[in-house]
Amino acid sequence: MIVKTTAAALLGLGCTFADAVSLPQIGILPAASIVKRQAAPAKYVPTEDDLSSGCANIARVAASFGRTSEAGSATAFPVDAKIAYDCLASIPLDKDAVLLFLNELKKFVQFQSTLEYLARPPSKSGQDPMDLLGGLTDIGTAVNSGSITSWNDVETRAEKLLDGCHEGHLYVTWPLPSLISFRAPFQLVSMSSDGTQLPKVYVADDAQLESTGNGQFNASAITQIDGQDVVQAIDKLMYYESSQSPDTRWNAAFQSQNPPKQGEFFTRTRYPGANTFVLTFENGTSTEYSYTAKALNVPGQNIWSKLTSGQDVWDKIINVPPAQNSGAAGKLRARALEDYKHRTMISPMDETLRRLKKRQTANNEVPPPDQLVILNGDFPDTPGVKPYIQDINQVVGGYFMADYDKSDDNSKTAIIDVTGFSPDNTTAEFATQAVQAAVEMFLAEAKRRKMERLIIDVRGNGGGYVNMGYDLYKQLFPSSEPYSGTRLRNHPASLKIAQAFTQLVNQEVIDDLIKNIGGGVGANLSVAQAARYEQATFASVSNLDQFLNLDANGTAFKSFGDFFGPVDIYDDQFTHTLTYDLRNLIAVGDLGYSITGYGDRASYANNPDPFKPENIILVTDGVCASTCGIFAEFLRNQQKIRTVVVGGRPDKEPSPAVGGTRGTQVIQHNAHMLKFVEIVEQNFAPRDAAEQAEWDGIFPRPFQLNIPEAAVNWKDNIRKTDPTQTPLQFYLEAADCRLFYTKQTLVYSHELWNRVDDLAWGSEDNCAQGSLKNANVVLGDANGVPVSIGPVTGPGFNSGANGDLPQLTGDYDVDTALWIWYGVRYSIGSSRGRTPA
Ligand SMILES: *[C@@H]1O[C@H](CO)[C@@H](O)[C@H](O)[C@H]1NC(C)=O
Ligand SMILES: *[C@@H]1O[C@H](CO)[C@@H](O)[C@H](O)[C@H]1NC(C)=O
Ligand SMILES: *[C@@H]1O[C@H](CO)[C@@H](O)[C@H](O)[C@H]1NC(C)=O
Ligand SMILES: *[C@@H]1O[C@H](CO)[C@@H](O)[C@H](O)[C@H]1NC(C)=O
Ligand SMILES: *[C@@H]1O[C@H](CO)[C@@H](O)[C@H](O)[C@H]1NC(C)=O
Repeated sequence: MIVKTTAAALLGLGCTFADAVSLPQIGILPAASIVKRQAAPAKYVPTEDDLSSGCANIARVAASFGRTSEAGSATAFPVDAKIAYDCLASIPLDKDAVLLFLNELKKFVQFQSTLEYLARPPSKSGQDPMDLLGGLTDIGTAVNSGSITSWNDVETRAEKLLDGCHEGHLYVTWPLPSLISFRAPFQLVSMSSDGTQLPKVYVADDAQLESTGNGQFNASAITQIDGQDVVQAIDKLMYYESSQSPDTRWNAAFQSQNPPKQGEFFTRTRYPGANTFVLTFENGTSTEYSYTAKALNVPGQNIWSKLTSGQDVWDKIINVPPAQNSGAAGKLRARALEDYKHRTMISPMDETLRRLKKRQTANNEVPPPDQLVILNGDFPDTPGVKPYIQDINQVVGGYFMADYDKSDDNSKTAIIDVTGFSPDNTTAEFATQAVQAAVEMFLAEAKRRKMERLIIDVRGNGGGYVNMGYDLYKQLFPSSEPYSGTRLRNHPASLKIAQAFTQLVNQEVIDDLIKNIGGGVGANLSVAQAARYEQATFASVSNLDQFLNLDANGTAFKSFGDFFGPVDIYDDQFTHTLTYDLRNLIAVGDLGYSITGYGDRASYANNPDPFKPENIILVTDGVCASTCGIFAEFLRNQQKIRTVVVGGRPDKEPSPAVGGTRGTQVIQHNAHMLKFVEIVEQNFAPRDAAEQAEWDGIFPRPFQLNIPEAAVNWKDNIRKTDPTQTPLQFYLEAADCRLFYTKQTLVYSHELWNRVDDLAWGSEDNCAQGSLKNANVVLGDANGVPVSIGPVTGPGFNSGANGDLPQLTGDYDVDTALWIWYGVRYSIGSSRGRTPA
């Protein structure tokens, strides 16, 4: 069954970066250098001369690269890490423009649902205090006083503030990483000899992943990076990764096949702080290696010929308002959106609006189910085995163990690999319908083959369309009503938008639209109705409409106050608990799609469950976030399904199955928020100049710098039984069983599934920690409060690690990756996170 091929091909990690071109570069070391040393290379600080020549040096490399054949297609070209950083560090800033931008960002982060929880994280949450508003104020103060003079420092510092919140829905798509990013010379893997012994860290090439041995290999493990213990060094390197769980952050450093990724030890979006690093191996060898950088190439254009100084970069591609977004600035914008695409496209709204526009001119029909699936095709995440069925966009694959495990052709185990809840291809069509069709046909085949057990693999699943997550749950448990109680932050701007949407898209408008949508594709809507529909779609996405949400009991809200509150919780204000109206086409958010058990598919609710809950195991690598978090919560909280988590730091502690954000919705600044504000301002006028000034002070406006997108977590998920109503991402709930990767299970998903099958229903008993056979799914303590594995007191996991004490002033050091704490200065004082702009 094993396919012989090279590791790179096997791992499917081809990229268009022209690694191999030989170019005139300055002082570059060969990848594996002969220099032997153990101490950390000195932190690099450019001189004035370095700064003034950095971008010009890149331009020279770009000119040579332009003469190679790769220049016509490559998305980037290699440059020396030193000159790349010299260029970045030389980019100046314009104080007024930066202060204006920071002010816009502050207005926008008011919509971050957990603003107050982040500033004062609950004990045992594992989170460090991050005061978003105070931190942005600090950065503005530093810019204003002249202690920050570089745009790269603004990006880096603000990014650390946001990333330190460990909230995958909270981000800014900064432009510089798409202009210049960095690389280590190789990828790393973290592997255990047998899946239960503590893993060690190896250079991926040394581990010979492509060879077919039985897990034995001769590579020497890495013991230190830059003289620091390898575990501490990677923990520290990964601190700013977006997951709440430190084990999930650890996994992000490494190469893997499912999901296919190179790992963040290799891919560095920011300058590593030095131009070289030193690895020490178990066999006693220490070797120094060079980082490299890659700079943006726009095929057919030499954009660098006009970017020969830091000032050019600031003038021509950063300090460019979105309206004048042509030339190099426009290319960078497009690239940044592309680089962040997995985080930016998260609602089916775009496809709905696209279909609405197409409705009278082109065929808009959803193809029949058999045209939305592929039988026995290759699937990128699972080399060596082909799924029985997959959707056309390669989101899910359904497998039968008996098909590939010839030693067990009586196996009653089926597997579904759910790589995400949206396609990687952002222009893919019929994403929700195709996944629905593939899952339905897979479950029918499982029934025909009398399957009894199901493994659901959600490794690498960072979420996607919420309705797709609900549908998968309802196909597995047709008669169960999924419960997800959500809420938004109630503050002056969200209140104004909610009042406006509730008035504009009222019950009458909704009824009229639903009556006229017909056949699911909106073909019969008039132009005026289509315009209303577009408005209703934004109201639906915003969840700021009384009539497009239900209360905690699934019934309509009686009044705006019953819907929007304010409800005082945790020294902040929120809406009442909302639930998703699965019977309302507009609330579900996709014209041509009914969630199983509702609408056109209401009759499915009478079907029996295809598998018993005790015969289902959920496999994660902790990445599970967003819609995956919602889905996992249904499985765990409503069905008590057992979970296995793979990977994590080398210890035998419990580790969370859902390690990413458990927020239920992300909202973007440009794609959504500006549109919400536009709809409000087109339909309502302020009473007077004072109210206009108030609106200007609270409503987000377009960024005037070339920053294509930003996002916040919009809604929290709150467990019904939790009397404290704490957002679920502040609990780290342990998986029942923990495993580490071996050489086999890292590359071959089916080897991991066989192992899980054995641990759940076969002869094996040993998890690295915990147990599947003796699992006792814990849903909360005696009071219904979810049980978190975070430390009992004090701040998060990394507090005080390695003697780096938290710095509560917001001080930072960009190059040393020293911990930064945006302190509680503003939040726990009298202003409680509401520092005036
Ligand atoms: C490991 O070393 C042994 C003994 O030198 C050798 O026989 C074997 O082929 C090596 N294994 C691999 C995977 O290189
Ligand atoms: C020690 O191990 C590393 C990593 O496997 C290897 O590259 C190096 O050649 C080894 N050194 C010696 C002296 O065997
Ligand atoms: C993405 O989907 C669109 C629409 O189905 C298709 O035309 C395009 O080829 C796809 N792109 C990739 C890279 O698969
Ligand atoms: C649109 O209207 C026509 C005429 O009333 C009707 O026959 C057709 O079924 C409608 N189409 C849809 C998709 O509802
Ligand atoms: C939901 O129903 C319960 C039981 O009838 C009731 O106590 C509670 O107040 C209701 N909640 C809402 C939001 O109406």
